[in-house]
Amino acid sequence: MAWLRTIPVTELPPGAMRHWVHDGQDLLLCNHAGEIRALGGVCPHANGPLAQGNFVDGLVVCPWHAWEFDTATGACTHNARTAIPRYEVETRQGVIYTRLARIA
Ligand code: FES
Repeated sequence: MAWLRTIPVTELPPGAMRHWVHDGQDLLLCNHAGEIRALGGVCPHANGPLAQGNFVDGLVVCPWHAWEFDTATGACTHNARTAIPRYEVETRQGVIYTRLARIA
């Protein structure tokens, strides 16, 4: 699976979260304390737009019903059977790349 060029790392400072779309697939890019993460951008509860939620202490909070997901693992904090996908991410020459092969 090919690496996809997303946004410059300067557009994603620590504590920031961005929505990004590839081929109609909603993704979430976030920066937790300098670590860039790429995850699925759709909430598995009822398809809420996660990028419109809050990003606090490495957790993304869905704007619709407040389910929380740990961006380090993709896991829902109150339902262990639910998670959002995580994807590989790299920064090259100041640009964030992701590959849509699920790592979790
Ligand atoms: S759609 Fe995300 S918590 Fe309900």
